[in-house]
Amino acid sequence: MKIIITTVAVFALLLTTSIIMGGNRFNHKEENEHEEHEYKSYSSRNLDVAAVNNANYTEECGSCHFAYQPGLLPEKSWLKIMGDLENHFDENAELEVDLQNELTQYLVQNSADKSNYKRSKRIMRSLGRSDAPLRITKTLYFVRKHDEIPYRIVKNTKEIGSFSNCTACHTNAEKGSFNEHDVKIPGYGRWED
Ligand code: HEC
Ligand code: HEC
Repeated sequence: MKIIITTVAVFALLLTTSIIMGGNRFNHKEENEHEEHEYKSYSSRNLDVAAVNNANYTEECGSCHFAYQPGLLPEKSWLKIMGDLENHFDENAELEVDLQNELTQYLVQNSADKSNYKRSKRIMRSLGRSDAPLRITKTLYFVRKHDEIPYRIVKNTKEIGSFSNCTACHTNAEKGSFNEHDVKIPGYGRWED
């Protein structure tokens, strides 16, 4: 009788232990899945540039084209662009003075030379000290990253039209992600490097 009780007790102990251990293993797995989920939901760590966080900017500078993130060009470029909005790539993009000042300040404060995001830093590294390109698409970094895409695809595909049309190919550009896994070229499909 004593032996049976001991056996039952030992068995019960083993069972409890394995439940606790199994539970731990389960919790651990959940933690990993959580991390992976965070990675996929664009935590700032894996963003290429900081997302736009100024509603006036999105409204005014996103009405004709994608609202390019300030971290895609240096301060010098933004000052040149904002100083001549009347002659903006053959368009008149003039703003009321207050708004122009506000948006210039926003662009300058968040420009590529003041950003720690990885693409901003690489864009800066591809420029000479005094370079102030009016286009992101003219920076050496941009040209190098896109030189395998035939220009005729860009030009002849209605949904693209121009390399300046970032969102045509970068499905998560608005979030600040230009990851090559999120690239889908209209009429061409996923980009396999
Ligand atoms: C009235 C329409 C219009 C408005 C408003 C406008 N833009 Fe543009 N922008 C254009 C056009 C057109 C181009 C040239 C696009 C192309 O070549 O495909 C352009 C190009 C640009 C480019 C260069 C893109 C490249 O090729 O790298 C930048 C940067 C830019 N705009 C910034 C701004 C900012 C900042 C504002 C807000 C102050 C603004 N734009 C508002 C029409 C506009
Ligand atoms: C015709 C489609 C297309 C357009 C338009 C386009 N891109 Fe890209 N972009 C690509 C492809 C494809 C790649 C991946 C290149 C490679 O590494 O093979 C890429 C890569 C990039 C990268 C590097 C990402 C990485 O993980 O290495 C950045 C940053 C980027 N693009 C920004 C832009 C910006 C900003 C614009 C708009 C001014 C733009 N792109 C317009 C297709 C496009």
